[in-house]
Amino acid sequence: MDKLLITGGQRLSGELRISGAKNAALPILAATLLSEKPVSIGNVPHLHDITTTLELLGRMGVQFVVDEKMNIEVDSGTIANCEAPYELVRTMRASILVLGPLLARFGEARVSLPGGCAIGTRPVDIHLDGLSKMGADIRVEGGFIHARAKRLKGCRLVLEQVTVTGTENLLMAATLASGTTYIENAAKEPEVTDLAHFLNKLGARIKGIGTDILEIEGVEKLDTENLHYQIMPDRIETGTYLIAAAITGGRVKLKNARTDTLDAVLDKLSEAGADITTGTDWITLDMHGRKPKAVSVRTAPYPAFPTDMQAQFTALNAIAEGVGIITETVFENRYMHVQEMQRMGANIRLESNTAICTGVARLTGAPVMATDLRASASLVLAALAAEGQTLVDRIYHIDRGYDHIEEKLSQLGATIRRIPR
Ligand code: EPZ
Repeated sequence: MDKLLITGGQRLSGELRISGAKNAALPILAATLLSEKPVSIGNVPHLHDITTTLELLGRMGVQFVVDEKMNIEVDSGTIANCEAPYELVRTMRASILVLGPLLARFGEARVSLPGGCAIGTRPVDIHLDGLSKMGADIRVEGGFIHARAKRLKGCRLVLEQVTVTGTENLLMAATLASGTTYIENAAKEPEVTDLAHFLNKLGARIKGIGTDILEIEGVEKLDTENLHYQIMPDRIETGTYLIAAAITGGRVKLKNARTDTLDAVLDKLSEAGADITTGTDWITLDMHGRKPKAVSVRTAPYPAFPTDMQAQFTALNAIAEGVGIITETVFENRYMHVQEMQRMGANIRLESNTAICTGVARLTGAPVMATDLRASASLVLAALAAEGQTLVDRIYHIDRGYDHIEEKLSQLGATIRRIPR
């Protein structure tokens, strides 16, 4: 397995271009299964999860062409099968996102039940319950979800918990259902909004976009000609590189970034002492060589502080001045990075779903192991601030969600290189 070797202690500074959002690209690529006509998707990030999604669509018989700028022409006009096999789903839980579109357009789907992962059990009961309410016949056996529906029927759905991909699956299914569907307690994450805008450009009739009540009037088919759609910039990648500058006392300018999807994160970075300025499509952060002040955060669904930035702020707090309390309310086991940071000298105490971080003068480099996507990123951030060398193992987790991370950090002056296995 590839490793990343990082020599910490450099103050990062420079400019970076933010890539397209992984968590918008995944549902939007799945949504192309709904389209009678070819569509083209731009600003797709170059990530392992994207490759897995394209492999999944390809196995179904979807035709696509990827150019050197990662623009993808997708043609789901005719497909050969409606199956998402175990060997792909187990590497990427988001494969569950083909369930709604397959059921809505082709009336059947056979999707391997996604297992849990390092951060939690990650059930999909809300996805299945909603599709059943829309008239689908859902059976789970042999580790697979077997779903059939002549035609889904619009209805009122009240989600018992805010779920991002649950909202996305049901939203996609509702676009071709007969009648109107209301999804209440819907997730409002910007990636859900990006998917909804894409679906409306395909010809769907969605109202309430960006709110927690989505109203979808089903249509017979989605057949917009010559649609090109640009994926939104990745807000979590943006937040991660802002912290790379903050944790090393440096400065960074991030271009092609969205400033209206990170308010909770920018507020906390300002509280930590960062100087932040924003423009139409850029954000700068400058620490003026200062150490950050510790901040306390509590994760919750958008627009509250995002769980996908929790591990990165834990790293920031590890070397900050004072004590910061991190509370994780979305996932039950999203502190796998803590014991690795403790090996680097971090003073973090876990109490149930809370991490009490007491900043130390400096961390020391050590061999550490990545366990999940955002935990891996937080270990890289800690390594950038640590004295000496850190070897981060199992970085395939990082490659799932960060486009060319070592090149981007090197552009900011980091000493980082990939050690092939
Ligand atoms: C999405 O995962 C993201 N992934 C995650 O990003 C992100 O951390 C998460 O939303 C929360 O924002 C993608 O968009 C591909 P949920 P998702 O359903 O949809 C419970 C990353 O790092 N739940 O919103 O799987 C669930 O257990 C990844 O990029 C049910 O109980 O998350 C969790 O506690 C990691 N039943 C809570 O809801 C269900 O049917 C929120 O999960 C569905 C969810």
